[in-house]
Amino acid sequence: MSAIPRIAIFASGGGSNARQLIRHFAGTVSAEVVLLVCNKPGAGALEVAAANGIPSLLINRADLEADGLLASELGKARVDVILLAGYLWKIPGWLIARYPDRILNIHPALLPSFGGKGMYGHHVHEAVHAARESYSGITIHLVNEHYDEGRIIFQASIALDHTDTPARIEEKVRALEQLHYPRVAEQFIFTTA
Ligand code: GRF
Repeated sequence: MSAIPRIAIFASGGGSNARQLIRHFAGTVSAEVVLLVCNKPGAGALEVAAANGIPSLLINRADLEADGLLASELGKARVDVILLAGYLWKIPGWLIARYPDRILNIHPALLPSFGGKGMYGHHVHEAVHAARESYSGITIHLVNEHYDEGRIIFQASIALDHTDTPARIEEKVRALEQLHYPRVAEQFIFTTA
């Protein structure tokens, strides 16, 4: 681990979590965001990185090979910790082996409920709505080779009422993400440094 831990954020979407993480660590000396990895051309997360002066790496499936572009760029950037922020591709085994207990993910529901394959983005909130849950929330967990099954390090919940649409549930959950992910990630990095 570098004197100031070096973070890579992986994102596929709009980048609201990436933005919050970048802003948070820009104001601290506890760690620094050195790279944004994205698998989707034109994703908002790439604009977030550019707007904040963070180098970004756009990858395709071939780049995910153990001896591919991603592996070499993470080494060049001397990345210590990986924060997934709406990243939709599976993390390859070699990456988990290279960053043991050093990859965090945020899931927009209270795992183990509403997790696993296909449970991402609006699908999660639609399932919570359909199940008439009285709560939803976020789960921040370590990443292992199975979707959403790594050790849970933090959860926060929010009450729902029966008038909440899936869009309203998403809004409530996103507010929890923005509030908690940066601080939980910082605490995690501090304890594993
Ligand atoms: C968030 O809801 C996050 O919980 C999930 O994917 C979404 C990413 O949104 N993993 P954004 O790209 O950070 O706006």
